[in-house]
Amino acid sequence: MLEDTTTTLTIGGDLPVHRLGFGAMRLTGDPARLDRSTAIAIARRAVELGVNFIDTADAYDLGDNEELLAEALHPYRPDVVIATKGGQINLGREWIPLGRPEYLRQQAELSLRRLRLDRIDLYQLHRIDPAVPLADQIGALRRLQDEGKVRHVGLSEVTIDQLTEAGKITPIASVQNRYNLTDRACEDVLEYCERHGIAFIPWLPVAPLVRADAADPASTVARRHEATRAQIALAWLLHRSPVMLPIPGTSSRAHLEENIAAASLSLSADEFAQLAT
Ligand SMILES: NC(=O)c1ccc[n+]([C@@H]2O[C@H](COP(=O)([O-])OP(=O)(O)OC[C@H]3O[C@@H](n4cnc5c(N)ncnc54)[C@H](OP(=O)(O)O)[C@@H]3O)[C@@H](O)[C@H]2O)c1
Repeated sequence: MLEDTTTTLTIGGDLPVHRLGFGAMRLTGDPARLDRSTAIAIARRAVELGVNFIDTADAYDLGDNEELLAEALHPYRPDVVIATKGGQINLGREWIPLGRPEYLRQQAELSLRRLRLDRIDLYQLHRIDPAVPLADQIGALRRLQDEGKVRHVGLSEVTIDQLTEAGKITPIASVQNRYNLTDRACEDVLEYCERHGIAFIPWLPVAPLVRADAADPASTVARRHEATRAQIALAWLLHRSPVMLPIPGTSSRAHLEENIAAASLSLSADEFAQLAT
C-alpha cells in the first residue's frame, strides 16, 4: 500500500498526493487489447492500493478515457485527485496542439461533464500552441480558475521561459514533461520546479527502461534489490527529487502492482549515482 511507503507532495499548496501516481492513458483505445471491465478493475485497484493522483486527458480516445475513470471511480474518494489535460487533439498517429481560448474553455467544460466533477483539481495545458499567444492560452485557464471550474493549472512539455511567462498570469502548480532515467533532456526544467515548489510529473517514466538493453546498471541494481527494471526506473525517479510525481501507465494489473511496490524500494546514494551514469 502506498500509504505505508510513499511520501506526499502537496500540489499548489493545498492538494496532498502520494508521490506515485497512475497514468490512465493505456486503459482505453483498443478493446481487443484491454476490455472495459478489466480497465475499470485496474483503475479501482490503483486507488485501492493507495494511488490518489490519476492523470488523464480529453484527447485520450476522444474523452473515453475520462469517462472510463468516472465509471470506475465516481463518486471519488475524497483524497483522489483526477488531473486532466486539454489543448491537444489526437488524429490517429498525429497530435496537434490547439490552444485557442474558446476551444480550451469548451474542452474544460466537457472534461467536467465526463469526469462528473464541479471543479477540476489540476487542469494541464497539454501542449502550448505556437499559433496562439501564450498569454491567451493561460488567460483562458485563469478565467476557468476565477469561475471555480479549475483549481490549479499545470503545463506540459514546456521550457523555463514558457513557465516563467505563464507564471505571471497564474501560479503554475505542475509541469508534465517527458523524463526518465535514460532521457533527462529537461533537467533544467526539473531544477526550476524544485526551486519553485512545482510538482514535476514525468511522462514515459518506465517504458524506455523496460525496452532497453538488459546489461546495464539498471539490471545490476534490480538484481541486488530482487526488483524489476521498471521498479528501479521508478525508484530512481522518486529518489531524484521530492517534487517528482511519476505516473506510470499500464494495462496490466500485475504491472500496476509491481509499479506501486517500487515506492518502497530505497536506493543508496551509490546506486542512484551508478544508475544516472
Ligand atoms: N503530457 C504528455 O504529453 C503525455 C504523453 C504521453 C503520456 N502521458 C501520460 O503519462 C502516462 C505514462 O506514460 P506512458 O504510458 O506513455 O509511459 P510509461 O508509463 O513509461 O510506460 C507504459 C508502457 O510500459 C509498460 N509497463 C508499465 N509498467 C510496466 C512494468 N512494471 N513492467 C513491464 N512493462 C511495463 C506498459 O505496458 P503494459 O500495459 O503491458 O503494462 C506500457 O507499454 C500516460 O498514462 C499518460 O497519462 C502524458
